Amino acid sequence: MIEKKAPGREFPPGFLWGTATSPTQIEGETVNDWRAFAANDRMTADDGPRHWQYYREDLGLLRRLNQNAYRLGFDWARLQAEPCAEFDRAAADRYIEIIDRLRAEKIEPFLTLFHFGLPPWFAVRGGWTNGDAITCFADYAGRVARMVRGRVRYFVTHNEPAVYAIMCYVFGNWPPCRKMRIDLAYRTLGNLERAHARAYDEIKRAIPDAQIGIAKHFKNYVPYRGWHPLDVAGAKAARLFFDWMSLKKFVNFRGRRVADFVGVNFYGRLRMKGCGGLSPLLGYERERLAEMGIVCDDMWEEDAAYLPSCLAQVARRTGLPVFITENGTATDDEDRRTEYLLRHVRATRDALTRGVDVRGYFYWSLLDNLEWTEGFSKKFGLVGVDFAHPDRPRQVRPAAQVYAEIARTNTLPE
Ligand code: BGC
Repeated sequence: MIEKKAPGREFPPGFLWGTATSPTQIEGETVNDWRAFAANDRMTADDGPRHWQYYREDLGLLRRLNQNAYRLGFDWARLQAEPCAEFDRAAADRYIEIIDRLRAEKIEPFLTLFHFGLPPWFAVRGGWTNGDAITCFADYAGRVARMVRGRVRYFVTHNEPAVYAIMCYVFGNWPPCRKMRIDLAYRTLGNLERAHARAYDEIKRAIPDAQIGIAKHFKNYVPYRGWHPLDVAGAKAARLFFDWMSLKKFVNFRGRRVADFVGVNFYGRLRMKGCGGLSPLLGYERERLAEMGIVCDDMWEEDAAYLPSCLAQVARRTGLPVFITENGTATDDEDRRTEYLLRHVRATRDALTRGVDVRGYFYWSLLDNLEWTEGFSKKFGLVGVDFAHPDRPRQVRPAAQVYAEIARTNTLPE
């Protein structure tokens, strides 16, 4: 908990304002296991914003938007061509250049090591289901830390580990697309926990004052029908598993602390009907959900009011500072995006007023990008990208201007 409550509409000095991206979703020239994956719209990661080519322009956008932080990932597959190998020089140089450009603009890098993309050599060995994965990842984490020593302080080892395990091995939607293999999902999560603890040690060895955590997804799970025992049980089970059981070991592993902060990825609420969730992402049409009283964007139902208590619970249960490492909406409606942003920034301010130690907010996302299985139809970007045009022109959206002003003034607008 912070000692002094920031008064009024201001945020505490040094509060981080950023956006978040991940390499597979924006870079293009893909070399990881998403390379050949065709999304529902039949497009692939290479049809995206081509950030690997246009990174200088994109980093320039961060400056224009007055950002003082940026959450980015390195693509493991670009850096290592085989287990425990030396890094590819050209890829390493490009990533260092990106970090240096950020630092030159006083933009704090938040570096994610694993955000759903695997090197092909790792994927063919069974990915995270293989016990060797832990040693391979620890080696990778140590090398990254040594490479960015003196340049990067904040590290996110894994993005949404439980989501990853379930999407790959229960729903079977993400590579390697295995359905209902609960055993493999369980093994994946266990190996991600072990790998996180090892990576934590490796990074600390290279950078003793590094701040390390995971980005964990949280939702407000509520029963669709408050009177129905199955819906009530579904919501309770989802909350217990997704929010808490799948966080514990990324904070305390075998009796020792292995995190310095918790990253909260928060998008909204999920109504549970039995053990199934009701949202467009899970296959329900928006119109049908609206008839049921559930108003959604292209993916989920918003619930900004829940954010302060979510942050408070995470901080209380873990005793750690929190960052909102992702928050955003998939929509074509700019008023909706602006309102969503303002409501969540206000909710973040409310959490600070309650005394929760929130240190930063990252909007998902800087650019329209590959929304995994959903392809390019979900517009999360503060900056739009014209995917039909060969040069992928960017267009700064109105919500981005509102966010730029919040970041510049470090204040919640009237
Ligand atoms: C993931 C992002 C994703 C976003 C919107 C998070 O679950 O970390 O990669 O694009 O949510 O679905």
